[in-house]
Amino acid sequence: MSAELPGRETVLETKNLTREIPGKVLVNGISLRVEQGELLAIVGPSGAGKSSFLRLINRLDEPTAGGVYLHGREYREFAPRELRRKVGMMMQSAYLFPGTVADNLSFGPRQHGELLSPSRIEELLEQVRLAGFSGRDISNLSGGEAQRVSLARTLANKPEVLLLDEPTASLDERAEREIETLLACILAEHRLTALMVTHDSAQAVRIANRAILIDAGRLVFDGKVQEALHAQSTLE
Ligand SMILES: Nc1ncnc2c1ncn2[C@@H]1O[C@H](COP(=O)(O)OP(=O)(O)O)[C@@H](O)[C@H]1O
Ligand SMILES: [Mg+2]
Repeated sequence: MSAELPGRETVLETKNLTREIPGKVLVNGISLRVEQGELLAIVGPSGAGKSSFLRLINRLDEPTAGGVYLHGREYREFAPRELRRKVGMMMQSAYLFPGTVADNLSFGPRQHGELLSPSRIEELLEQVRLAGFSGRDISNLSGGEAQRVSLARTLANKPEVLLLDEPTASLDERAEREIETLLACILAEHRLTALMVTHDSAQAVRIANRAILIDAGRLVFDGKVQEALHAQSTLE
């Protein structure tokens, strides 16, 4: 019998996902299912392997064992570029390149031969509450604005899954809350699935119902956020 709720589709699954480098197992046999529309928080001590785990999911790194499945399809069936469009990533730093906001949004789609129209750019900017920012030079953006451009750039690819690696860790509290609110709206509107690493317990509680706890590369808890945080507190 399946334990899944009826009508909720598993979008992302990892099976025994493992990455070993000489002398160290960074990610150790993580098996996980995430359903459509779900935001899963990932918590755990610094150096536990949270970023290493996310990097495996969109093939920034290769697993040494196990696999990743998108809608049940083994992820190597997708070309790496297609996979990275379906599985978008947002990190602690926005990594924008010099130029305007529009330049940054247009770059990725142009790589695969798609021109973003000015109205599509404006639509993406509206989604991240940066209407009218298209011509702005990125050197004039605040940290929170730069992160929202980074999010819009990811959304330009129409992803199905978002991997968020401490996306608010370098922001002040106000900008952090803005990003949280935005993410909640965008996930709900597009029924996106997201995995978000956070080292902030209060944030985990605000954004997610379910959390996994990773310690020393292993998944050691999967369940309610509060229980994951409690389990984490017993580790430290
Ligand atoms: N390419 C690498 N080579 C060697 N060690 C690495 C590499 N990437 C990560 N590590 C180590 O793997 C462990 C997990 O790192 P990371 O996934 O960044 O942890 P977290 O995101 O949970 O803080 C750390 O001990 C880190 O130093
Ligand atoms: Mg990390």
